[in-house]
Amino acid sequence: MVGGGPAGLMASHLLHRAGIDTVVLDRRSVHEIETTHRAGILERDSVRLLTETGVYSGEGTERVLTEGDRHGGIFLRFGGRSHHVDFERLVGASVWLYPQTEVFSDLHRARTRDGGDLRYEVSDVQVHDVEGSPRVTYTGADGGAHEVSAEIVVGADGSRSACRNLVADHRRFTREYPFAWFGILCEAPKSAPELIYARSERGFALISQRTESVQRMYFQCDPTEDPGSWSEDRIWDELQTRLAGEDGFSLQEGPVIDRSVLPFRSFVQTPMRHGRLVLAGDAAHTVPPTGAKGLNLALADVRVLAEVVERALEKKDLDVLDEYTDRALARVWKAQHFSYWMTTMLHRAPGASDFDELRQLGELNSLVSSEAGSTYLAEGYTGWPTR
Ligand code: DHB
Repeated sequence: MVGGGPAGLMASHLLHRAGIDTVVLDRRSVHEIETTHRAGILERDSVRLLTETGVYSGEGTERVLTEGDRHGGIFLRFGGRSHHVDFERLVGASVWLYPQTEVFSDLHRARTRDGGDLRYEVSDVQVHDVEGSPRVTYTGADGGAHEVSAEIVVGADGSRSACRNLVADHRRFTREYPFAWFGILCEAPKSAPELIYARSERGFALISQRTESVQRMYFQCDPTEDPGSWSEDRIWDELQTRLAGEDGFSLQEGPVIDRSVLPFRSFVQTPMRHGRLVLAGDAAHTVPPTGAKGLNLALADVRVLAEVVERALEKKDLDVLDEYTDRALARVWKAQHFSYWMTTMLHRAPGASDFDELRQLGELNSLVSSEAGSTYLAEGYTGWPTR
């Protein structure tokens, strides 16, 4: 596995259970990955993957279920009012608020417990000969030169993937957006029982959560925004204005303990396999954050990947890997559409006309007043069944 984030570790975990040895390489330290804030929502099948494949075996507790929070819906807020979309009632499913950093820690603990070969803080990672007998060379944390031979290389090296460049004759599909997200962590109590996705004349805002006393919030900003230049008062004014409404809703405020501007892009590369190299997660596709599909897609890739790799090695037939791209991309494009749709429905495009604004409100009103519309949102948010 080139990349030891959640995708690489989950691949390593599932292959280990199939009796296949893996080596995980990552240039980052465990501490760096554990402390880089990412999204916090797990689809139903992502939770199942954690609980049903032995990640927590022997721990006496399935942390995602005991530490995470089950959310049966979300609030869409626009026109100064909140509208609840009840996933439980609409599709009989829920999602779990459980930060990606926790998923990483759980997988790291599971691989360590099972004797996994994890090599963090390496550098100069290079993948050779993926069409023949793959080798991965790198400089170890000790400064020495190392080499690993592999039957299959998994490129799970994230949104700035080097592995993806090794796929010959690839096609890339990209969409840029004229905005980004300003994300904060703050010490405050929860403002609502579930997440609030808010559309306002000043742009989008999302009120998410972490714990009883720490909350995660985002608001749409210019991609060139410097988070350091904002005072806390200005951050709260902006959030309060975007959430304000005739119902008198008010956000709970508190000290801001982390802030950053998040990149925003839609990207897909195909194929996701070349020779003995297979790509997983952000290495092959990126979604804008609205709807929190990134980690869920990576885990869905890995579930398919582990199954085809296991079969290919068992049958000694690399042609089995051919089905990976089509199976993974079917879900990827659904999630691309879902993330794009949630984004465009809730964000304010710079230069939007009055027509654009009123059309957007028309879309949101038709969505929340339609069983069919709300069900579509619920299906996409909680995640489509894995093929
Ligand atoms: C979070 C992030 C998202 O992009 C989202 O849609 C929901 C929640 C989060 O960080 O909690």
